[in-house]
Amino acid sequence: MEVYEAIKLRRSVRSYEQKTIPSEILSRVLEAGRAAPSASNNQPWHFIVVRDQEKRKILSNRMFTRFLAESPVVIVGCGEKNRRYHVVDVSIAMQQMVIAATSEGLGTCWIGDFNEETVRTMLKIPEKYNIICLLAMGYPKEKTDLAATLLRIRGRKKLENIVSFDEYGKHEKLLS
Ligand SMILES: Cc1cc2nc3c(=O)[nH]c(=O)nc-3n(C[C@H](O)[C@H](O)[C@H](O)COP(=O)(O)O)c2cc1C
Repeated sequence: MEVYEAIKLRRSVRSYEQKTIPSEILSRVLEAGRAAPSASNNQPWHFIVVRDQEKRKILSNRMFTRFLAESPVVIVGCGEKNRRYHVVDVSIAMQQMVIAATSEGLGTCWIGDFNEETVRTMLKIPEKYNIICLLAMGYPKEKTDLAATLLRIRGRKKLENIVSFDEYGKHEKLLS
């Protein structure tokens, strides 16, 4: 899949088929994360692939994470807290995984709704890491994402309103 197509196609998926992600596909997605740039090439990341049903159930016990009980995989992105740009680095790597997963026909959803200590204890994550974000991943269920549609949370600001040229507030007509 062409990269712009994957970027356009991607949406947050909150409903998944009960279908395992083949290991070669999961490996390619994780490789896409590994290939990401990082400040000084520090690669201050560690990714925990959570497949265990009980553990996903615990992760799903939050207001905005109910669907984690049915996504076959949840990737937990951790960053070495002594590296200045660890949050940026881990986020870039995870978004590369998101785009790669989309091109593999997988759905994803970033998850910021988690309790750091619960996740740390459950997954035995060493103190040297911050837990940056979670990523749900799996085959989307063929139905519209009602929650997203109803909440109208997919709209985007106009390009003209978020881009300036040469100084803040100096706008140009942009073609898209
Ligand atoms: C850092 C971050 C945290 C998020 N946390 C959650 C979450 O906890 N639960 C959830 O359902 N969606 C979560 N989202 C998804 C956003 O709601 C979603 O990206 C946004 O509404 C735009 O919709 P779209 O991804 O379908 O384009 C998160 C997204 C990001 C980038």
